[in-house]
Amino acid sequence: MNSKWIYIALCTLSIGNHSFAQKKATSEQTIEKLLQRMTLQEKVQMIHANSSFATAGIPRLGIPPLIMSDGPHGVRVEHGNDWIVDKNVNDSGTYLPTGNTLAATWNKSLGYSFGTVLGKEAKYRGKDVILGPGINIIRTPLNGRNFEYLSEDPLLISKMVTGYIKGVQDQGISACVKHFAANNQEIQRTSINVQMSERALREIYLPGFKTAVTEAGVNTIMGAYNKFRGQWCSHNNYLLNQILKKEWGFKGIVISDWGAVHNTTEALMNGTDIEMGTDIGSPAFPYPQFYMADTVVKLVQNGQIAESIVNDKVRRILRIMNKTHMLGGKRIPGAYATKTHQQVAQKIAEEGIVLLKNERNLLPLTNTIQSIAVIGENAVRKNAMGGGSSQVKATYEITPLVGLQQQVPHNTTITYSKGYSIVRNATADTSLINEAVAAAKKADVAIIVGGWVHGYDYTKWSDNAYDAEDTDKPDMNMPFGQDALIKAVIQANPNTIVVLMGGGAIDMRQWIHQVPAIVQAWYPGMEGGTALARILLGKVNPSGKLPMSFPKQLSDCGAHKLGEYPSKNGEVRYNEDIFVGYRYYDTYGVTPQFAFGHGLSYTQFNISGLSLKKIGKQVMASVTIRNTGTMAGAEVIQLYVNEVKPVVKRPTKELKAFEKVFLAPGQQKQVQLLLPAEAFEYYSEPHKKFVHQPGQYWILAGNSSDKITAKAAIQL
Ligand code: BGC
Repeated sequence: MNSKWIYIALCTLSIGNHSFAQKKATSEQTIEKLLQRMTLQEKVQMIHANSSFATAGIPRLGIPPLIMSDGPHGVRVEHGNDWIVDKNVNDSGTYLPTGNTLAATWNKSLGYSFGTVLGKEAKYRGKDVILGPGINIIRTPLNGRNFEYLSEDPLLISKMVTGYIKGVQDQGISACVKHFAANNQEIQRTSINVQMSERALREIYLPGFKTAVTEAGVNTIMGAYNKFRGQWCSHNNYLLNQILKKEWGFKGIVISDWGAVHNTTEALMNGTDIEMGTDIGSPAFPYPQFYMADTVVKLVQNGQIAESIVNDKVRRILRIMNKTHMLGGKRIPGAYATKTHQQVAQKIAEEGIVLLKNERNLLPLTNTIQSIAVIGENAVRKNAMGGGSSQVKATYEITPLVGLQQQVPHNTTITYSKGYSIVRNATADTSLINEAVAAAKKADVAIIVGGWVHGYDYTKWSDNAYDAEDTDKPDMNMPFGQDALIKAVIQANPNTIVVLMGGGAIDMRQWIHQVPAIVQAWYPGMEGGTALARILLGKVNPSGKLPMSFPKQLSDCGAHKLGEYPSKNGEVRYNEDIFVGYRYYDTYGVTPQFAFGHGLSYTQFNISGLSLKKIGKQVMASVTIRNTGTMAGAEVIQLYVNEVKPVVKRPTKELKAFEKVFLAPGQQKQVQLLLPAEAFEYYSEPHKKFVHQPGQYWILAGNSSDKITAKAAIQL
């Protein structure tokens, strides 16, 4: 146990036995009384960082520090109070698959399982707030943090985020949904000003956050680094005061991103409740000099800022502390690095890995396969510590190579060759390629594990690249000469399977037509190698679906074609407007490499017989799904809506409901999906609200945005 944990334990004990807070832990009245007992200095102490991940707390009143930790897919390594990684602590825990793997399951109940694991592990580690989920819209394939995020589609985000947040918070730990809002690129994230229409904001960029607040009841929210319409997101009056707190009635805490506050008055007046950051490397800016620290005391004492402004922030913090039993000393212990948690990680990976292509039914590999050539440094690379603030120290991490070695039948031989080197600026290496080709020639099948990486030395944030915080990918091209490797191996062995790791799309045009089977494995967590091997070997039937479109090339992407990226004179205009992801590809007739919602199975499904019933402004859709193949599996029924004669330009189709259905071979089910009134609305700028336009609508049912197999019209 490190010193921080001992402090927490002591603090909890003192709260449990003696404190004022313990006696009356539950009501607003209690909070008011606590507030009355605080000095101004003590109040201010609660609204800014006092160490890398915590506020100060007020021990004399039994108020503990609010202790936070990244991140979205596991509890981060211990950084101590000072950002120096603690060496002698047991902080090796469950490394869950990343956000986009979770989203690719399209299984709402897995969001809850994911959150439950995180909440339990955070509690065990003495954390109060887990800094996730990250739910910014995937606007461009280049964003270095797409791997942490969920999707390009607001409905998919909303449905997955609800379970995640409830899972965390049912453990008595606060989730922190981030980064609010319009933080869709890492490059220039601390300087750019994002401009977009009100319609794009309301229809695309806000719904996930709104659901997190109004349906999932998230306790805390993190402001983003960038500016929105000229004002920093972490103290943006429109986003925080008007929308979040007034319109959505958010009663929880707004936490700034680390170092995202730039102005005391704005932070005080525009809705920031806690300023986080670090003074490391900047002795000139220690915690008392934070914008929301000593200056606030002076401003209140001088009468320039009303104390009620500070009180509101403290009240919010106390309310959440009370809700999460921080004041009552009643926390039940969490659980850490358990077998059950590891099984959840595996299940999410098994449902999230996507089978993109499978010609000649090359997959699953049958028992007749006696030799496999595994190629590519990604097959042996561990990813848990990569990518920036989401880094996790995993108890263990099963790589693709180890997963295969553990899962193949005893008589199957596996060889490994590196194929390419993950080092800065590496290009195709002829000797590595020759070695891989020789291995592929001798084997029944070749499995190339490639794609993106977190960085060159994934243990060092400063060396991160590609899928990483604080950086974007330079382009969509395969790094390290992988195109040349794949082209050479496919010549040597036509039974070549390409497995792609990474946070999203990569340019496959040089080899896609020659390679018969492609699997998208994302960053699938500590049991990712097991899950991948079980899919390749047919022990698990793949059921993942792309939560974002994979364009063929970067210039096909709406944000790059119509919008701006990375910026012009410090500003990024989202001129593509609401046409993000498949909304752009469909409406503008651009064929992606793999469409939003795409994902194959080893069995076949038939979705048919769509019928619709009006219930007031809602529509109940009923659809029949049948497993027509020979293997049990799961399919995602996706319902899209199209307005026949819209008064404003609308996308050709928009996802409005989905359901993942598990079926035995030959089994058939009738599935009902509710389309609420909002499923038909668009945001009208003149009316400044969502509008339900009477008229005819098509309801489209299928198993991918580009595979609609049943449709029906309805007059509303
Ligand atoms: C990231 C946040 C993270 C915070 C604390 C920032 O750089 O943007 O997502 O939670 O650091 O590590």
